[in-house]
Amino acid sequence: MRTDEPHAIHLKDYRAPDFRVPEVALDFFLDPQATRVAARMRMVRTGAAGAPLVLNGEALKLVSVAIDGHPLKPDQYTLEPELLTIPDVPDKFILDVVTEIAPADNTLLSGLYTAKGLFCTQCEAEGFRRITYFFDRPDVLAVYTTRIEADKKLYPVLLSNGNLMEKGDLANGKHFAVWNDPFPKPSYLFALVAGDLGVLEDSIVTMSGRTVDLKIFVEHGNEPRATYAMDSLKRAMKWDEEAYGREYDLDIFMIVAVSAFNFGAMENKGLNIFNDRVLLASPETATDDDYARIEGVVAHEYFHNWSGDRITCRDWFQLSLKEGFTVFRDQGFSADMRSKAVKRIEDVRALRLRQFQEDAGPLAHPVQPQSYITIDNFYTSTIYEKGAEVIGMLKTLVGDEAYRKATDLYFSRHDGQAATVEDWVKCFEDATGRDLAQFRLWYRQAGTPTITASGHYDAAKKTYALTLAQALKPTPGQPEKLPMHIPVRLGMVGKSGRALPLTLEGDNAPGPEERVLELTAPQQTFVFTGVEEEPLVSMGRRFSAPAEFRIEQSAADRTHLMAHDPDSFNRWEAGQTAARTAILAMMKGAAPDPLYVAAIGPVLERALDDMAFAANMLSLPLESEIAMAMDVVDPDAIHAARVALIRAVAAAHRGAFDALYGKLSDTAAFSPDAASAGKRALRNAALRFLTAADDGAAADLAARHYRTATNMTDMVAGLAALARMTSPEADKAFAHFHDRFAKNALVLDKWFGLQATSPRADTVERVKALMKDSHYDLKNPNRVRALIGAFSGNQLRFHAADGSGYTLVGDVIRQLDGVNAMVAARMAGAFETWRRFDPARQALMRAELEATLKTPGLSSNMFEVVSKMLA
Ligand code: ARG
Ligand code: ZN
Repeated sequence: MRTDEPHAIHLKDYRAPDFRVPEVALDFFLDPQATRVAARMRMVRTGAAGAPLVLNGEALKLVSVAIDGHPLKPDQYTLEPELLTIPDVPDKFILDVVTEIAPADNTLLSGLYTAKGLFCTQCEAEGFRRITYFFDRPDVLAVYTTRIEADKKLYPVLLSNGNLMEKGDLANGKHFAVWNDPFPKPSYLFALVAGDLGVLEDSIVTMSGRTVDLKIFVEHGNEPRATYAMDSLKRAMKWDEEAYGREYDLDIFMIVAVSAFNFGAMENKGLNIFNDRVLLASPETATDDDYARIEGVVAHEYFHNWSGDRITCRDWFQLSLKEGFTVFRDQGFSADMRSKAVKRIEDVRALRLRQFQEDAGPLAHPVQPQSYITIDNFYTSTIYEKGAEVIGMLKTLVGDEAYRKATDLYFSRHDGQAATVEDWVKCFEDATGRDLAQFRLWYRQAGTPTITASGHYDAAKKTYALTLAQALKPTPGQPEKLPMHIPVRLGMVGKSGRALPLTLEGDNAPGPEERVLELTAPQQTFVFTGVEEEPLVSMGRRFSAPAEFRIEQSAADRTHLMAHDPDSFNRWEAGQTAARTAILAMMKGAAPDPLYVAAIGPVLERALDDMAFAANMLSLPLESEIAMAMDVVDPDAIHAARVALIRAVAAAHRGAFDALYGKLSDTAAFSPDAASAGKRALRNAALRFLTAADDGAAADLAARHYRTATNMTDMVAGLAALARMTSPEADKAFAHFHDRFAKNALVLDKWFGLQATSPRADTVERVKALMKDSHYDLKNPNRVRALIGAFSGNQLRFHAADGSGYTLVGDVIRQLDGVNAMVAARMAGAFETWRRFDPARQALMRAELEATLKTPGLSSNMFEVVSKMLA
């Protein structure tokens, strides 16, 4: 057990820095084992006279420190493991600090590190302090000039933020480059890359007519795999001009792909660094989901140029200010590039899967947290995805035009600043005149509200009274909650299927067919008049709030909405609710709901109208989504019931699935566009049902699907079906895939992942065997996530009753903690739901968590998540 319990940092303790740092000049002498960093910083006191200079630093060797050119003696400063304090400094001075670091030994992948011979950085959130001593906090904004010196043969490409000022050759086979970024930025946006890289080049003309060079750097040979990212970037730049009036500001925009990266990607000013998993794509190596992900992440990082770089965060409690907003922006972009309805479905699915789970468990926290031990643990789906939902609600409440006015005001008012969530909300109030006092609770209160609707139809008066009640359960540290301001978008559908007008009592004209009710009290009743027939309420359309919408409806009502709701999102939602209800009933012994099974008929008949949408209609709620609806999760029963429902649907519609599968077979050249991807998604959805029996015939079909595939999407669909089966066909296909892609790390990750997510009884054993595969590497986050991360998302096998899945993951996170604590702590989230299982499983999971907490030398990252889970 650690004795030095890491202490928490609180929002209420925020204090402005004591100094400004208008300029920083960094001089790097790159060497994998001993890189020297000479930093020169101009400091100007802004705080209390006589306050000492206190700088962050971590894992640094201090070589020298000087003030105004005078070297300091060791008794003129104090050095602690994570701080450098100089008690006596003037009000204005130049500080020179020389440090030495070992990028090759940096397995945490934070700060400057090497990956496959490439030097690269990751400074968000607190990696810059692993490069030099500095005010490593987002409210200290400086203009950076960076000089890089390195061996020219090994590192021909030398990059940093901003514009290239100078480059040249030096003696001893070395060369150098000098970069300058004129935009003041916090240290977390600093970046440096050096290596032997290929480049894909393009350019764009901005809205004001400036030409911007675009460069994507990748390993030699991978240039063609960057074309989709480049295309996405150009579309994103254009979209941001149109949708938000945001123009790019430097003359060059660069992206670098690296193979060892803790997260998805990073928005360093002018020099985004990407996990290659979200950058590289070709038809032979990337699935349609990969393409969509790349488009989204390229846009996300680019959009940060304004929502993050030009306007940054005052402190890390404001993280959602840039992340929630930027997610909202990238979701809007993807929706415009593809199908709005399908994108919304996918986003809501992901939100429910991760954020709702987080909000319901021991790690629940508000969009604006009040405290943290390690900020890296707060790059959560609450900060990102719920943060985006909160902005979506603002937009719903104020309307599209006022929303744009508010964001325009935000960008102009706070350009160049380190802002707060409060600044953001204020812009909405000032631009729209609305009082958002109650709305602010969305940033402060954790948890997913429940909105329960009940209606009463008065046939004689033709009125319909709809009562909405909201409730929010306690979350850690928040025993009591206040009622929220919740936009509830709804419509009413008649028995015939027609949309009914929504005229509220007191309206002087017939109302629209859809409207947004504002729920602000614990309970409110809305009376609609002129309602010609008893309506079915279609509530929470397009998921108008990150809430759980509950309304008493029969299976017949749901299947009616599934077919007739004018809002396609809610047609999908009705189908999900119907399927989930059916599965829960089957777990108590019921037969598959015949109404749900029959309702798939019309879905198949209309499937060709919108294929991507139909594929979503055909995808049943995931096992973990069903678990969310249970008081005590029974993973075996959930799996069995879900499979049984799939088989019942398959049996009832065999002919239609067959016909669809045949009709959609693809002969055209591959294109990653949304329509083509939708076609593949629908055909692969049909394959899921056609192979539902998991028998010999199913294996044959899946194997044929795999063999005849002309792109990675279809190969993976075939393999995913085979992964469920114990059959020679499955072994053959997996062996073939392995041999064909052994040299392609990103594709091999899929091979690992598909085996880890298999429902087969021997999955734990196979994952253990795969951990001994020569390609498995604890130091590569993508590989660990592909195998262990995927396995811990395998609800059936991770939660194996004998605890074997828990031990496997527990052992890995404890070992990984010493290598890469950030990734390890994130993976520990696998145990987040432990209290939702039966006592036997709870005891087994608890034992893993306790063993972890007792691990000598445990990181504060891991300490924080595990102690919170046990609290
Ligand atoms: N800002 C990056 C992005 O969302 C992610 C950085 C993650 N950093 C971290 N320490 N977790 O685009
Ligand atoms: Zn981001």
